[in-house]
Amino acid sequence: MNCLVVYDSYFGNTEKIARAVGNALLQAEGHQVTLKKAGQTALEDLAGVELFVLGCPTRAFQPTEGAAELVKGLPGDALTGKKVLVFDTRIAPEDTPNRFLRVMVRTFGYAAGTLGKKLLKKGADLSLPPEGFFVAGTEGPLRDGEEERAAAWVRGIL
Ligand SMILES: Cc1cc2nc3c(=O)[nH]c(=O)nc-3n(C[C@H](O)[C@H](O)[C@H](O)COP(=O)(O)O)c2cc1C
Repeated sequence: MNCLVVYDSYFGNTEKIARAVGNALLQAEGHQVTLKKAGQTALEDLAGVELFVLGCPTRAFQPTEGAAELVKGLPGDALTGKKVLVFDTRIAPEDTPNRFLRVMVRTFGYAAGTLGKKLLKKGADLSLPPEGFFVAGTEGPLRDGEEERAAAWVRGIL
């Protein structure tokens, strides 16, 4: 499969998950993988792509501007016939020290859910539900095992 993995990342954690996803695809025979940052991805990059993976950090319960703008700019037919996956990185509720924030998280959720809804509205057919990978603190690091979990996650559609 021809795969495009697009990510946004401030501290490098989402990039690590995107790379783990890309490497898992490369290790499975017969796939070509292109990895790109959201702000550097153009519509033409989607040409001929069979699997499109998009990931970004959760910030203030939302996707990053780079990821949201990318989805916003997709024409209606851009994802037709493609497999689509979406993920975010996030802090687990039990690692959120503030009770108020935990309530807010339950109400407003995470980036992947929002991006997933936006992608569905654009006609995407999500191959798996939106997924979240955990960082241990605001700037990371990733929780142990999250890169391996990301690799297993994407293998789930092969
Ligand atoms: C300004 C800011 C807002 C954040 N808001 C949330 C949030 O609403 N929910 C959450 O789970 N994590 C939140 N985080 C933690 C980020 O998800 C975390 O920084 C991100 O997963 C790290 O990924 P990156 O290294 O790719 O930037 C926030 C972090 C920052 C700096």
